Amino acid sequence: MDNRVLSLLGCRLPIVQGGLAYVGNGVLAGAISRAGGFGQVGSAGRTPEQMLDEIEKAAKEAAGAPFGVNLPLSEHSDREAYVEVILSNAQRLRAVSLSAGNPRPYIDRLKRAGLTVIALVSTPLQAQKAEAAGADLLVAEGYEAGGHNGPGEWTTMALIPAVARAVQVPILAAGGIATGDGIVAAFALGASGVQMGTRFVATKECEAHENYKAELMRRSADDTRIIERSRGRVTRVLQSAHVDDILELEKRNPSESEVYALVRGEKNRVAAIGGTLEEGYVNCGQGVSLIHDAPSVDELFQRLTGEMREATRRIRSLDTLLH
Ligand SMILES: Cc1cc2nc3c(=O)[nH]c(=O)nc-3n(C[C@H](O)[C@H](O)[C@H](O)COP(=O)(O)O)c2cc1C
Repeated sequence: MDNRVLSLLGCRLPIVQGGLAYVGNGVLAGAISRAGGFGQVGSAGRTPEQMLDEIEKAAKEAAGAPFGVNLPLSEHSDREAYVEVILSNAQRLRAVSLSAGNPRPYIDRLKRAGLTVIALVSTPLQAQKAEAAGADLLVAEGYEAGGHNGPGEWTTMALIPAVARAVQVPILAAGGIATGDGIVAAFALGASGVQMGTRFVATKECEAHENYKAELMRRSADDTRIIERSRGRVTRVLQSAHVDDILELEKRNPSESEVYALVRGEKNRVAAIGGTLEEGYVNCGQGVSLIHDAPSVDELFQRLTGEMREATRRIRSLDTLLH
């Protein structure tokens, strides 16, 4: 087995928690790392000081297991302040994932501090550019994913084998993966691990509001919507009255500021943390159809590894067809 992901991240299982705006708290990241995966503290929706607080909580919860942070570049106008906090805490972190922007200007600095650099990509061309810029590991994320997706709208099924053929660095598959069979499928497509987001929101340790978790259990992929196309972005969220208003507005050729008023971070916070889902929006991927409970991270990892074993057994029977 290709275990470059395990050696780059220092974890036991190649299951990574993606950055989760507003709901990527330190206890969640630490619990995922302690369970054998790789957790990442989210910085979107947090000040640099709040990010540091969550890094401290993650370190405590992880009990020595390595974890990282996510830096979505376009989300922070003051991104240097975040980079400074990351660099001055480099000893406590194993990796930084760079998303939503060009990672090139940051990669060397972060690597010189001893950090593994993960770059998020959504096309094979972006993957080649991120590899050339020095990224150690790529997350190739398909259009099924919750949150911001690439404008090319490549689906995970088409994207992973294409990226695997385009680069030498190891790849984590993301987008629509919420079960152990999804993880095994990612390996079959050429990935060396996975990054999951939506599934980890519905866990005991995630600080998302209980109403958000309840909606994830209740709803299906039919209920996800793409907002922000009018401003050149592709963001997969869960339908709500507020999301319907955004989509209505976007049909009417609105100005940037009109759209921004409805999609700004505060509208995510009121729903994801405040629990008033109809008055805002929450990120949600198509894998929501596979979520029916909010277990502890430990319980979820036991389930995922059981499903991986089962899926591996099923795939073995393919062999008999091929002889
Ligand atoms: C609630 C939520 C918030 C997210 N916030 C971020 C973020 O701040 N930075 C980032 O790089 N990706 C973010 N993502 C994407 C995830 O890190 C991950 O790549 C994605 O969720 C994978 O697809 P899945 O939701 O189908 O598992 C977010 C996803 C969700 C569901």
